[in-house]
Amino acid sequence: MKKPFQNLVVDHMTFLVEPRFYKVAYALFRIIFGVDSGDILYEKRSRWPGASKEESMTFAARIGEAEKTRGLGQSIIAVVQPSEPRGQKSHVRDMLKNRGGSAHWQHIALRTPDLLAFHRHASERGVNFITPILKDAEEDLIQVFSGEWILPGRAPSGIFFEFVQRSPGRGLLKKLAAANRQSWFRDKTFLGLYQEKETEYRSGKVVPFIDPELFSRIEKILAPKPLWKISKADLARVEREMKRFAKKRKRGN
Ligand SMILES: [Fe+2]
Repeated sequence: MKKPFQNLVVDHMTFLVEPRFYKVAYALFRIIFGVDSGDILYEKRSRWPGASKEESMTFAARIGEAEKTRGLGQSIIAVVQPSEPRGQKSHVRDMLKNRGGSAHWQHIALRTPDLLAFHRHASERGVNFITPILKDAEEDLIQVFSGEWILPGRAPSGIFFEFVQRSPGRGLLKKLAAANRQSWFRDKTFLGLYQEKETEYRSGKVVPFIDPELFSRIEKILAPKPLWKISKADLARVEREMKRFAKKRKRGN
């Protein structure tokens, strides 16, 4: 049975592109998707040490908005380029390289009405998160980022999930209606995640969505059957294994 906190909808997606694609992507968004300048919700620049000028790191475009959703039905794509100067390490460049370059969907943010419940649910089943639950100062947004979807023993995929809960109180709705469109994205959380991923990629220890050992156990349980033959009982067995794994690991820590 699906629980209310498992009612996940796409909140926004983040798209990594090569620098050569960055402005072209912007133009395509504006022209092909009809993104108005007012629908560019966020744009962040950086002047990296040793660089002569500022570089745009990311922009977020509202590409559509559903009706009657109290302002929460928008479709937003945040685009990030490796803005670091050549010679400086960049996890964004590494992610693109690992994925064959050009462009790469990095994370999809899924909104839940109860992030704490979702987080507990996932943690108790061995899902790894790379950040604690980040809370915005104004407390209308909380978010958390998962580990990457990586096959055991393989290179980091650069693909992960963000889970968010937005509580559109009167303050937020008022702000959204006014000029402050950036209330959808925060420097603190954008830069916080950026630094976290950079640290992971520099250390070579990229946290996976689930540990390789758990991955292998699930794989083993499901190995004898084709997908269409996986039963509720099989899934219950997988879930038990996940819970057991998470519990044991928690005790070990
Ligand atoms: Fe995000």
